[in-house]
Amino acid sequence: MNSELVEILKDDVFINEHCHQNLIEVEKLLKRLGNRKFSSFLEIGGCHGGSLWIYTNLLINFAGKVIVLDIDVNQDLKNVVWKLNRLGYQVTSYEKHSLGFLRNFDGEFDFVHIDGQHDYHVIKQEFALVYPKLKKHGIILLHDTFNFRITSGAHIGCVDFREELEQKYRCENFISNDSSVCGITLLEKNV
Ligand SMILES: C[S@@+](CC[C@H](N)C(=O)[O-])C[C@H]1O[C@@H](n2cnc3c(N)ncnc32)[C@H](O)[C@@H]1O
Repeated sequence: MNSELVEILKDDVFINEHCHQNLIEVEKLLKRLGNRKFSSFLEIGGCHGGSLWIYTNLLINFAGKVIVLDIDVNQDLKNVVWKLNRLGYQVTSYEKHSLGFLRNFDGEFDFVHIDGQHDYHVIKQEFALVYPKLKKHGIILLHDTFNFRITSGAHIGCVDFREELEQKYRCENFISNDSSVCGITLLEKNV
């Protein structure tokens, strides 16, 4: 596994069983991004802070600005935010619904991770609100775009939206071939 990834997963603040990322997929994504770093990161769906911890440590410049949204900011997420701020990042959490937050936010991002409500209509609106705020060459990641629980319908909204997006934009998918596949879809804004 990527040595930097191995190192940050050892930190006590990272709770492995609460992280919703498939690490094989994350590793493939990291390989694709190489040495790229971002300076303004928005995460929709902080949950227990798993992906926030991984992506901020590995993809954000020191002193980079990070916003994390969740409708329920729990103590684990607060701990991750606290630790990242101690490391020098500027992380702020908001206990807000993504759509309400995005409608009132007029800043820009160069990296967005959409992993909140896995409902087609919500993701579509999140994307529509976030895309104009994405800087040129910025990236959007969508999570659970190939989820194995698709048969139960749990993540069908993410899968449907990814299929729709692929009709209009060039998307890259990072998927593990084991039964715990989640699927990460990357879209880079080239205009
Ligand atoms: C699948 S979890 C995120 C997992 C996390 N990104 C990780 O990899 O560890 C989804 C989170 O999104 C939050 N959420 C759901 N709908 C939301 C919305 N509309 N706006 C903000 N957060 C939302 C939920 O409370 C939950 O904590």
